[in-house]
Amino acid sequence: MSTKPKNIILGISAGIAAYRMYDLVNELKKQGHNVTVVLTKDAKNFVSELPLKVLSGNPVYSEMFCPKEQNKPIHIDLADNADLVLVAPATADIIAKMATGICDELITNILLATTAPVYLAPAMNTNMWDHFTTQKNIETLVTKIGYKIIAPEEGDLACGYSGVGHIAPNERIIKTILLGENEVRPLLGKKVIITAGGTREAIDPVRYIGNKSSGKMGIAIADAAYNLGADVVLISTVYAEKKYQVIEVETAQELQEVIEAEFDKADALIMAAAVSDYKPMKTSKQKIKKKNEDLTLELIKNPDILEILGRTKREKQIIVGFSAESEEMEKNAKEKLVKKKIDMIVANDITVPDLGFGSDENAVIILTKDGQRECLQRQPKIQIAKHICQKLAELFLSIKEAKEV
Ligand code: C5P
Repeated sequence: MSTKPKNIILGISAGIAAYRMYDLVNELKKQGHNVTVVLTKDAKNFVSELPLKVLSGNPVYSEMFCPKEQNKPIHIDLADNADLVLVAPATADIIAKMATGICDELITNILLATTAPVYLAPAMNTNMWDHFTTQKNIETLVTKIGYKIIAPEEGDLACGYSGVGHIAPNERIIKTILLGENEVRPLLGKKVIITAGGTREAIDPVRYIGNKSSGKMGIAIADAAYNLGADVVLISTVYAEKKYQVIEVETAQELQEVIEAEFDKADALIMAAAVSDYKPMKTSKQKIKKKNEDLTLELIKNPDILEILGRTKREKQIIVGFSAESEEMEKNAKEKLVKKKIDMIVANDITVPDLGFGSDENAVIILTKDGQRECLQRQPKIQIAKHICQKLAELFLSIKEAKEV
């Protein structure tokens, strides 16, 4: 990757992933960057100063009060000369210190003193990463301070656990810091089912009862959830080739069967599909011939999948429904939210021309069971999808908060 040479401060805190920083320093140096390593006191248990000094070609710092000949104190000197600061691995401890402004190490002083962009590559035990406090601290660092997170990965951890907490690969860390990307992935480790499209209920081999849903909203949500790190299962009536799992279905019954098979292992379900409320009582095996008299079709009710799952879901599972309305949109959506015992509902007015069904844009009102209300004006479905997934991430956080506080 060729970018202008940068002055990079690499803060290494005390995690087993610290050993990977030998290669990281080497690679950054090879690419022409000037790396200065700052170790926390405990990081010295995991890496040695000498190889880092040799690989970087610079002194390695860890003491606040070191005898370097200069006008400025060392933390200010390093902070002022940095083009960017990377903390890798970032432990739960240093993340908590950064979120609260504690300066008991050289690196935490540099972080408070610098105006350069700051990147963190967290690495820790899954439970420590998942802990409400760590997640809250990360949220503070990202939303209030503007730090960029290079999200940890899922894998077998040195502590014996298997889950999220593995430091991002060096290649990803380098790409992120040099391109200035942000990689907040709040849905990492969450399995999210998204349904999309409109079901088709066969009348005979040629005809069906269907609806105008294009699947665009559901697919945009699946993409957004995937980009935020979720393990996505898209159940769709519309074909889509994606990096995540896509299961194609046609009828409400097929949709229900697939959801029920997947839901037990899922953390959330977003039901964007327009499910046919009724289906023909009988499906003719042969094409129904045209006759000179009227034809009456007898319809039977399909089960309300959302309502069934809302009643039976586990406390920690989150269900999001949609509500397409042609009148009294908000009132009807609120009633559905309560009746179907779901956590959030996305309501849209289907009478607005060029909006909703088939369109690339939508305008929605989002209501949550705890009384939040958000009105999203006309905008691309992709934006609305991102917003819905951010809201989902917030709901996961509030469930944790309620449990742990
Ligand atoms: O009650 P209404 O059909 O308007 O509710 C819409 C919501 O319920 C959507 O999220 C839709 O996917 C879901 N639904 C369902 N099963 C049905 C009908 C609708 O899950 N049979």
